[in-house]
Amino acid sequence: MLELKDIYFSIEKDDEEVHLIDDATLKIHPGHFMAIVGPSGCGKTTLLKVIAGLNVESKGNLYWNGRDLSEEGDLEPSEIGYVPQFSIAYELLTVEESIRGAIRLRVRTRGRAAFHDLLEKVMEDTGLTAIRGRPVRVLSGGQRRRLSLALELVTNPVLLLCDEVTSGLDPKSEQEVVKLLHQLSRESGRIVINVTHSLANLDLYDSVLVLHEGKVVYHGQPRALEHYFSVTIAEDVYPRLAKRESDDWAQSWKKHRANYYEALDSAAQVAPQKNEGVPVDGTITLSAAMPGFFVQFLTLLFRRWKLFLRDGGQLFLQIAILIGFPVLVVIFALDGIEPIKSLSDSIAANPIEEANQQAEIFKNHLKTGGLISGLIMFQVILLTLMASNNSAREIAGERQIYEKERFGGLNPLSYLASKVAFLGVLVVVQSFWMAIFVQNICHLPTANFSMHLALLLAVNAAMTAICLGISAMSKSAEQSSLLSVYLVGFQLPLSGAVLALPSFAEWLSRPFISAYWAWSGGVSSLDSKTLGAVDSVIDTSLQASWLCLLVLTIHFAVGMFVAYVGVKKNRCL
Ligand SMILES: Nc1ncnc2c1ncn2[C@@H]1O[C@H](COP(=O)(O)OP(=O)(O)O)[C@@H](O)[C@H]1O
Ligand SMILES: [Mg+2]
Repeated sequence: MLELKDIYFSIEKDDEEVHLIDDATLKIHPGHFMAIVGPSGCGKTTLLKVIAGLNVESKGNLYWNGRDLSEEGDLEPSEIGYVPQFSIAYELLTVEESIRGAIRLRVRTRGRAAFHDLLEKVMEDTGLTAIRGRPVRVLSGGQRRRLSLALELVTNPVLLLCDEVTSGLDPKSEQEVVKLLHQLSRESGRIVINVTHSLANLDLYDSVLVLHEGKVVYHGQPRALEHYFSVTIAEDVYPRLAKRESDDWAQSWKKHRANYYEALDSAAQVAPQKNEGVPVDGTITLSAAMPGFFVQFLTLLFRRWKLFLRDGGQLFLQIAILIGFPVLVVIFALDGIEPIKSLSDSIAANPIEEANQQAEIFKNHLKTGGLISGLIMFQVILLTLMASNNSAREIAGERQIYEKERFGGLNPLSYLASKVAFLGVLVVVQSFWMAIFVQNICHLPTANFSMHLALLLAVNAAMTAICLGISAMSKSAEQSSLLSVYLVGFQLPLSGAVLALPSFAEWLSRPFISAYWAWSGGVSSLDSKTLGAVDSVIDTSLQASWLCLLVLTIHFAVGMFVAYVGVKKNRCL
């Protein structure tokens, strides 16, 4: 049994305390199907989140089978199914793949047969068997809602909370979904609560709770609703509510409340619910323990690759920049990188000719120095661009699904690890290909090619991690992309490789500019003649390669830390 006693949920608004939920007291017996109705903005979603544990009540107590949830801990993630208002499945996966994924992430099944049985049962219960192979992207509104329910049913939850799962549906689909919810409440003593704005199909519910300005103003049988509010049809309840102060309505209900719940309690004693938490025939007993870190990690990684390979646009863009960017660098080197001659190597017959030769060599010297410095910077900048393309949308673009899965028991570390493993492959392929392709054609005169390679790898990894951090902190994929593009855009001007900054600005910005460190380290790893040539064309000081590698490693670590903080945050549930 679920019980709420004097529950408040309040927020501070202009230094005043506003009660979004104002003194809610109610009881729900096992196997009960309840609607929460009320005008838009009355607090239905807020109340549902308090019950789910997503909103922590400001005052009052919640009990589950007599257990005080605020003192003795919330329900396990596997005991609650929460179906939010938005769609929670990947468009590119099929119905069956989505459900398989949910089982792997949330349920410890014993063996293949048990996995298969659960999969089939969930699809059958939600009427999805016939369309199991269809991609989510082509599903109708009603089918999507049924899939959302299926994803929650994989743990066989004792409490199923649904937010507006019928809104936006045509009347027939709406009725089908409400019937399905009704059916689901008849299994395993499960409590099903459906938040809805609609007053259609009320007769399918065991009880209806009416909220008005955050206050409970009625809870009872659907057929008594019209009588209680002195209206002839349910649809007239909302206009009727507006005619009195919500306080008056709430006071009136408090007078009837005790009688209603006493009657309910005694009815439950006469005909005890078939199965308080005990599975009836046909249901599958599941362990409450979640799958471990590694299973969740592999499930997410596998799914990420599948989505990547199925997303034609993303795949094309990745391949195009993987191949195109290094080619772009090489085009700039077509003019030819002259080997650097030292100024004293010239053999001239007379002093005038010698002076001419020296001037010519010096000119080439500058040109080659400038070209090599430019090529290294170009490699670096293009890799930072690839980095932002890798990860700017990675978390922000699927935030709702992620948070939903985390609420369902996903370990944030498994999630982050799956991102690192996926992006790591992109980073390694991009950086190696950039370094090796350009080296084979341009023959940059490096004294230490492994260092050059390591620096390119490090700058790509650092920027990918930083953009992943931005992605984890952002409200939307658009915001995250924009911030990442700005970040990359500022790398070149602030690096000092093109134009020198005033020295105070240089010292302020330099520690944060990954491109500077990758470029500076790359130039420092050139052979000594070329290094001298580059040094004579730039106004900026260079740093030792190992120091640059260290700074980029720190950038990477900071990016990962921010990403970790970001995935622990609540943004949209
Ligand atoms: N975290 C919050 N901070 C401030 N206002 C909120 C918050 N959550 C909800 N509200 C406000 O509380 C009211 C009730 O919201 P909600 O529960 O979503 O309504 P319903 O689901 O009934 O349409 C709305 O006016 C909404 O803007
Ligand atoms: Mg709502």
